[in-house]
Amino acid sequence: MDRIRVTDDKRLLHGGDYNPDQWLDYPDILEEDVKLMKKAHTNTFSIGIFAWAALEPEEGVYHFEWLDQVIERIASIDGRFILATPSGARPAWMSKNHPEVLRVDSLRRKQLHGARHNHCFSSPYYRRKTQEMNTLLAERYGDHPALLMWHISNEFGGECHCDLCQENFRAWLKNKYDNDLDKLNHAWWGPFWSHTITEWDQIESPSPIGESAVHGMNLDWRRFVSYQTIDFYKNEIVPLRERTPDIPITTNFMSDNPEFVPFTALDYSQFAKEVDVISWDAYPAWHNDQEDTPTLASRVAFLNDHFYNMKHQPFLLMESTPSLVNWHDVNKAKRPGMHFLSSMQMLAHGSDSVLYFQWRKSRGSSEKFHGAVVDHDRSSENRVFKEVAQLGQAMEALSDHVVGYQRKADVGILYDVESEWALKDAQGFGLKTKHYGETLQKHYQAFWERNIAVDILSKEDDLEHYKILLIPMLYMVSEETATKLQAYVKNGGTLVGTYITGLVDESDLTYLGGWYGPLKEMFGIEPTETDTFYPSDRNHVSYKGQSYEVRDYATLMNMAGAETLGSYEEDFYKGTSAVTRNEYHNGQTYYIGARLDDAFHQAFYGELIDALGLKAPLDLRHKRGVSVQAREAEGRQTIFIMNFTEEMQAIEIMEDVTDLQTHSPLSGTLDLAPYEVRVVEKVVS
Ligand code: GLA
Ligand code: GLA
Ligand code: GLA
Repeated sequence: MDRIRVTDDKRLLHGGDYNPDQWLDYPDILEEDVKLMKKAHTNTFSIGIFAWAALEPEEGVYHFEWLDQVIERIASIDGRFILATPSGARPAWMSKNHPEVLRVDSLRRKQLHGARHNHCFSSPYYRRKTQEMNTLLAERYGDHPALLMWHISNEFGGECHCDLCQENFRAWLKNKYDNDLDKLNHAWWGPFWSHTITEWDQIESPSPIGESAVHGMNLDWRRFVSYQTIDFYKNEIVPLRERTPDIPITTNFMSDNPEFVPFTALDYSQFAKEVDVISWDAYPAWHNDQEDTPTLASRVAFLNDHFYNMKHQPFLLMESTPSLVNWHDVNKAKRPGMHFLSSMQMLAHGSDSVLYFQWRKSRGSSEKFHGAVVDHDRSSENRVFKEVAQLGQAMEALSDHVVGYQRKADVGILYDVESEWALKDAQGFGLKTKHYGETLQKHYQAFWERNIAVDILSKEDDLEHYKILLIPMLYMVSEETATKLQAYVKNGGTLVGTYITGLVDESDLTYLGGWYGPLKEMFGIEPTETDTFYPSDRNHVSYKGQSYEVRDYATLMNMAGAETLGSYEEDFYKGTSAVTRNEYHNGQTYYIGARLDDAFHQAFYGELIDALGLKAPLDLRHKRGVSVQAREAEGRQTIFIMNFTEEMQAIEIMEDVTDLQTHSPLSGTLDLAPYEVRVVEKVVS
């Protein structure tokens, strides 16, 4: 297995968002920055992210000298810069002189100038202007040897409902439905409440004061918003591709917060095709009072595996905090050691960087209390700075054992944002208990606890080489997806579906005549009803002699060839099937009809892990809360052994490995202190 290098730098990247434009009146601070950067063992800085007002203070008047200077300073310490295009925030003159750049919200209110991430994606002026700005940036800095990468705008998201966007939405629909309103009305189930459309200009984007009940349209609107956002991005990068074809391009993706699940405002599986490098901003709420640290760690792992697999290559952690954020309900400081551990976890799951928001804490405005490497004290002697420097040193030593190393997994979990859009919109089930992202994370956790690597996949990914594939709550299963899943199982795959899997097609129209044929055939069952629970309702499933708790959902089913592995213990469906297995051609399928607890997942997936011979990267014994993850290239595995508990952990290592800190062999008992990480190397064939 080769390395996949996503940048031309051989080092692990350490550094982050640097906003010198906030400090142009403080030359001593700018000089101090470069000294501190060295001291912090940092090497990479994202600059210009929101710098439009500093770059073009008046329309057509440009100032690049300050940026030239900043870049020379970074280069003087052998640093690299990730140059951002400034379109994430506009200067006030632009909103005033060209109000078409302002967004219109779903209530049709034109927004005032303010905040950020608030431009219209259709605005011809803004599209032209971003190209002009990006041309100037590419011409001035494109050949600079310290230029590492382009960072386009910032955290794309949001939507605009202005007249131009309405026109673009209609044009997109015409194209999608072959200019045929009958096709559109069928997909949107038009006759419902007399919503049949007879002329294209009757169509208006979804609105709380207008159309909100047509699910097919809501779904198409989400698809359009994604398309339009990606199209805006593609427009932005034209001058960069022309002038700097060898400089990779990224934009920073994110998670849905505060839930910390996959991002749902855009279809990242489509966006990923247009970027060279995936990067994302990770802000888990460590030490929160809702879940224990290992559970949160497994959710962080899930998201990393999601971003890794968007291009099946190493990604960059573009933003994280060395200490705390300012926008969680409670902004708790990372305990000593957690910064090191959580950063190592990102590397373990495929990141080739640990970058922060931000380098230096702002003096004013809304992020002045957001954690940063350099605090208001301007000191390198505080706890946070020292932990950052310590991490930087460790990253320098590890670079050659990590950069470009791949991840590999035999387990796949399918995440589909289109299905999530439709499921969220579905008026049915429990309106507050769908939790698609969290449900996937729960299933994932059973593998994480056993150190079994998992790939988070999209429906377009190749499935063949996975030994097991999970499609929990995959509400929308198109004919195409069903055919693909069938082929996977026919070839010997193991497929696990659950309650609410496979209820609608790609237009969010339900299947008629019982469960969708190919699914029924594969699973050998026919779900007949989904019972939805009140929060205090419980049922139980007896499975292989144990009883497991059910919350929220229980599917009732008829058997059509499958065998029953678990049955409901209570209520009017007591004794009927809850968990089933079916053999289908060379493969097998399992259906988990109820939302079962973690203990069930551990038992159920534990048996499958053993039966399918799935292996952890290292043969070792430990208690819950230790995670072992590996990256691999050139016949070597770099394995991270991470203690996510607040206790000492004694770990039995049954194989010979080399400790990458001491470079001496390691086997037998390894004692890990709370939050400690050990990185070891194993030679593989
Ligand atoms: C009301 C309406 C119906 C239908 C039902 C759904 O009774 O009159 O059209 O929407 O609610 O419960
Ligand atoms: C929050 C903030 C946003 C953004 C994300 C982090 O919602 O308000 O500005 O930073 O989280 O990805
Ligand atoms: C996001 C944004 C940053 C900053 C951080 C704060 O990730 O991209 O500009 O606002 O959130 O956490």
